[in-house]
This record gives sequence, C-alpha cells and structure tokens, in this order.
Amino acid sequence: METYHTPVLLEQSIEGLSIKPDGIYVDCTFGGGGHSRAILNKLTSGKLIAFDQDADALANHPNDDRLLLIQGNFRYLRNFLRYHHIETVDGILADLGVSSHHFDDETRGFSFRFDAPLDMRMNQMGTLTAQKVLNEYPIPELKSIFRLYGELNEAGRIGSLIERYRSQQPIETVAQFKEVLEPMLPPRAEAKILAKIFQALRIEVNQEMEALKELLVQSVPVLKKGGRLVVLTYHSLEDRLVKNYIKNGMFDGEPVKDLYGNFSVPFSPINRKIIIPDDQEIERNSRARSAKLRIAERN
Ligand SMILES: C[S@@+](CC[C@H](N)C(=O)[O-])C[C@H]1O[C@@H](n2cnc3c(N)ncnc32)[C@H](O)[C@@H]1O
Repeated sequence: METYHTPVLLEQSIEGLSIKPDGIYVDCTFGGGGHSRAILNKLTSGKLIAFDQDADALANHPNDDRLLLIQGNFRYLRNFLRYHHIETVDGILADLGVSSHHFDDETRGFSFRFDAPLDMRMNQMGTLTAQKVLNEYPIPELKSIFRLYGELNEAGRIGSLIERYRSQQPIETVAQFKEVLEPMLPPRAEAKILAKIFQALRIEVNQEMEALKELLVQSVPVLKKGGRLVVLTYHSLEDRLVKNYIKNGMFDGEPVKDLYGNFSVPFSPINRKIIIPDDQEIERNSRARSAKLRIAERN
C-alpha cells in the first residue's frame, strides 16, 4: 500500500511543542497522522484535537480515546473548540499544504503527472475547483495568482495563453491545461515550471493563505500563556506570514507601541534561526526539501 504521508521534521516539531503529558494540543493538519501519533505518545491524561478538511484523512484515525479528529477547516479553529467546550490549549501544530496522498491520487487533479479533471479541492465538499478558477476568474487576477503563489516571472504569458484557449473552449482536464501551457514550457525545466503553476492554482482553490491568516489570528486567544505555536511551511509567502506574525503580531508593518513606548507582541520566537530538514531527511523524503519550521511561545 502506498504511504499516505511521511511526516516532515517530526522530532523537531514535537520537541517544539514542549508537550505536557496532561495538556491539550491541537494538530491542525492531521493528514496521515504522523505528527498526531507522536503527540499522543507524549500524552498521558492529555487530549489531542486534530483537524483535516479532507475526508480521506479520517481513515488514518488511530484507535485512541484521547484523540478527537474533526473533519473541518482549521480556519474555524476557535468555533470548533468552543463547540467541544474548549477555550484554551497548550500547543498548536500546523503542517501546512497538501499531503503526499493528494499528489499520488491520480483522480484529484493535484499532480501534473496524471490526467484527471482539474479539481484540486482538499475539501471535496468545497465549491471552488481549479476548473472554476481557470475558466471563470478575470485574467488579471489569474496572472497575479501565478505571480504571487507560483513566484512565476512568466505569469503574464500564462494568463495570455489561458485567455486565448478559454475563449474557444473551457479548460477541464490536466492534459488540456498542459496543452495550454505547452508553448511556454522549456523542454528541460518543464516539471519545475509545471510544479509552480499547479502549486499556485492549488493555493487559490483551497484559499490557503486566507486560512493560514485566520489560524494565526485565532492562535492568540486560543493558546494559554506559555503555550506553543509550531508551524511548518512549504512556500515563501506562507513563511513570511508566519514569521511576521510571530515577530510583530501582524502580517505586515510594525507593531504599535503602548503608552510607555513598549511593543506588545503576542509571541516570543523560540528558534531565532529557521529550522530546515537536513540532507539525510531530504534524501529519505524529497517532499521535505522546501520545509521551514517556526516555533513560538505565547507571551
Ligand atoms: C502536509 S499534510 C499534514 C501531514 C501530517 N502532519 C502527517 O504527519 O501526516 C497537510 C494536511 O492538512 C490538511 N489541510 C490543509 N489545509 C487545511 C485546512 N485549512 N484545514 C484543515 N485541514 C487542512 C490537508 O488535507 C492535508 O491532509
């Protein structure tokens, strides 16, 4: 059987949570449950609340009474916790983005390796699909998605190719989309460019930046004083949001000084230097290569 997902920076992120055996922890991104299992191993009477918006992840549920696994989006963290009568927790872990399962499932349109309908929804009940984004978004918006989320200098060209194709017929499948992009794909760097384009689309379909921002804002009231926030990112925009929020309690700009001239920020960073996987981990798991880990403590 194919592995659902190999957890990235497992030891370092669990250490970052500084787990109290009787504490309450949240794993925002359950996936294959690798991080969740490691948290459960450190708990005695504690509790773990885990989220995944993809129903497929629920099949990885370990048989453990201390775990509450919620099929839902972590952008509603506070509401879900309140529903379960939990106001504050000791630690929050978020291992962002998609799992290997998403790339390996030939039917869901996340990977350019397989032809499939352009779907790319992590939450299969969601209404926004990659087809909708490609066929219905205004072209300037599409260009900025490819520039921002794909970090593609050729975003303008991609937008123009989409515009031309979709004026004749809708773009519905991965194969069709690759046909659209064909004229701008350099023969030897094809996979690299396609990976960036598909990444950009997926981030938009799943509203990943918006969900991350909402999670970070809610982590402030939800974490107890001394509680830990541990975030694994795979994209420079995501990392910048996390870095700025940990440093300043805001996504851009400088924090406001109080009456006494002091900054009041919600977090203290635990690792000043970013934590990244070593060569052995990347060798074992190439999907770890872009990971960055940030750990902060609630003030
Ligand atoms: C990188 S994987 C996590 C892997 C996990 N740490 C493990 O050890 O197997 C990210 C998972 O989070 C889920 N996910 C991503 N964004 C989400 C969101 N906003 N709300 C809930 N789940 C989300 C995805 O469906 C995916 O299963």
